Amino acid sequence: MAYVEQKQQPGKFQSRFELPPPVYADSQTSTGSRCACRARRVEVFRRVAKASIVLVFLYVIAGLSGWTGGSSRIGQSLPWCHKSEAGAIDGEQPGANLARLPTHFVLPSGDAIPAIALGEFHLILHLHLPSPSSHNRTWQASKGEVGNAVKVALQSGYRHIDGAWIYRNEEEVGAAIKESGVPREELWLTSKLWNTFHAPEDIEPKLDETLRRLQTSYLDLYLIHWPIAFFPDEPQKIDYDLTNNPYPTWKKLEELVDKGKIRNIGVSNFNIRRLRNLTDNGLRYKPVINQVELNYFNPQPELVKWSKENGILLEAYSPLGSNKQVGESLNIPEVKGIAKQLGITPAQVLISWQAQRGTVVLPKSVTPSRIEENLQVFRLPTKLYEKLETAATSHKPQRVGDPSKAWGIDIFEDEV
Ligand code: A2P
Repeated sequence: MAYVEQKQQPGKFQSRFELPPPVYADSQTSTGSRCACRARRVEVFRRVAKASIVLVFLYVIAGLSGWTGGSSRIGQSLPWCHKSEAGAIDGEQPGANLARLPTHFVLPSGDAIPAIALGEFHLILHLHLPSPSSHNRTWQASKGEVGNAVKVALQSGYRHIDGAWIYRNEEEVGAAIKESGVPREELWLTSKLWNTFHAPEDIEPKLDETLRRLQTSYLDLYLIHWPIAFFPDEPQKIDYDLTNNPYPTWKKLEELVDKGKIRNIGVSNFNIRRLRNLTDNGLRYKPVINQVELNYFNPQPELVKWSKENGILLEAYSPLGSNKQVGESLNIPEVKGIAKQLGITPAQVLISWQAQRGTVVLPKSVTPSRIEENLQVFRLPTKLYEKLETAATSHKPQRVGDPSKAWGIDIFEDEV
């Protein structure tokens, strides 16, 4: 997997200082040598003063532009203007003086997947996930909301839409994409195979349904949504054969890659044991992606490390803690502190942190201003990045979403 670096923002503070034209004492008009001598002294004094002013200006400019390096005394004494650690300065875009992060990851197929996607909500009425608490619409949106969000996202520059058959909004999404006028080849479309359809004979018809609803002939990425298979006729009854051995499901997905209906295949919500259990089969196409919950509350450092070592790109869902815990996420003292220091929003800090960990990030929102905000990610200065990573990995991990109880199976096999 390779990372594609986006060019850094052009440097700031590059305008030249224009000094007023020099004013000299006119010796031709002097009336005597004492006057001439005084005039010379005045002129020398003026030149020295001017030179000093120029030197002070140049030193300040050098400090502002970062020419004096990260440990510049100027940067330290004027933290508001240090290039790599500064917040927004009046009149500037927030984060304008911060470096950008890679915009894409390149998969083994050669396809470049955009690092930030619009994550989608389920359409309300969805039945198979744990019920949201009464005041939270966890993962849910009303009819029309997701279609609008997709339109706003595409207008704002997103080119990656993360969906799933079970979200029950693929028609809405397909229509919004069509309306946007963005050419299909510029887009990255992901969908997911629902638990009820893991049996090889059920997969292609469901994929075709997704393709038809999205109005496309292929998906860029198709994921096994959960490592749990249900029997088709009894939606929440677990098919332990296909759950314990997902190879037949995978072989069918490989066949669909060969047919050209899917360009890349992967999994979602798999832990390391479940992934090994699958890849031990000597696959023709390895899973290139594992989409999992990754956020401050559940940062999964071991999975992040293992996935990097094994060439599997992680995608972070619920990066803000989902509807359930977004308020808490945005109020974490470390997150708020970094946001203030850098002049960006707490949501941008959290999304940037995940992207900087080397994962694709899938923030969900149906609010236009937030959709735009979430696409702006920045490279956090190393010290701040490490501070956040340490804070996130120092508390007891807690999943924001876990349907294990509702489905009667330990999905993640977390150590308690
Ligand atoms: P909304 O859709 O009303 O904008 P996650 O991506 O972790 O699943 O979190 C989704 C939740 O976070 C939604 O409630 C969404 O609300 C909210 N959200 C998304 N982006 C932002 C943001 N930039 N600032 C504040 N809340 C946000």
